[in-house]
Amino acid sequence: MSELMKNIDESRLPSHVAVIMDGNGRWAKNLGKPRVFGHKNGVQSVRETTEAAAEIGIDYLTLYAFSTENWRRPRLEVNALMTLLVETLRKEIKTLNKNDIKLNAIGDLSYLPKKTHDSLLQGIENTSNNKRMTLTLALNYSSRWELTHAMKEISEDIASSRISPADIDEAMINNKLSTSGMPDPELLIRTSGELRISNFLLWQIAYSELYFTDKYWPEFTKDEFCKAIIDYQKRERRFGKTSEQLKT
Ligand code: IPE
Ligand code: IPE
Ligand code: MG
Repeated sequence: MSELMKNIDESRLPSHVAVIMDGNGRWAKNLGKPRVFGHKNGVQSVRETTEAAAEIGIDYLTLYAFSTENWRRPRLEVNALMTLLVETLRKEIKTLNKNDIKLNAIGDLSYLPKKTHDSLLQGIENTSNNKRMTLTLALNYSSRWELTHAMKEISEDIASSRISPADIDEAMINNKLSTSGMPDPELLIRTSGELRISNFLLWQIAYSELYFTDKYWPEFTKDEFCKAIIDYQKRERRFGKTSEQLKT
């Protein structure tokens, strides 16, 4: 266990941490390397973050790996990312099983290349009995896609008279999202110094604590993850109440 990890208060852990893994391209460019070099090195940060989260006792870790907008990138980069995902899944499933981590994915997965889709489904199936932590990869994900999809499903339920508009409540909407069954993330981390959400979990982060770091994703280590948790534990989560109310 690292020194920083010892400073984490186990009684005040977030149950769900979401991460926007950003800055692979700029990290590589600063070293005079192609962007794909950054993506390859980003895999080590995924490993470290997953291990750290499991060691700390986080229940759900959700990583934004590819957005619906990322298809706009050069084809070679998109292909490299999809291939990297297949290779990584192939290599890492054993480790996930060893660490009792369940793999999950959110996003419009049917649009992924067949090989990527297949290895993802295989990974999900092979780890489905694991209990310690759920690692969710957001792939071809965007929050507006997810909300649109949810609205269509609810409209169909109304059209077929299974429900009436008066039945719609927050719980029903939660159930129609791809994160159904997971708690909302208490903490959202974004690396690389960008201060935006980029279409990630808009509904679910309504009351999340946001943590931004200038570190590029390939520089993000276990200690950086611990720093984010420690920072989160210093925050007062008021949910509309006053500070005084929380103390009584
Ligand atoms: C994050 O790094 C990885 C993905 C979005 C797939 P970027 O590739 O966005 O790196 P920058 O932001 O261009 O530096
Ligand atoms: C957000 O990163 C998506 C992922 C981390 C997968 P981007 O690098 O694509 O975000 P923008 O386009 O700069 O906002
Ligand atoms: Mg980026």
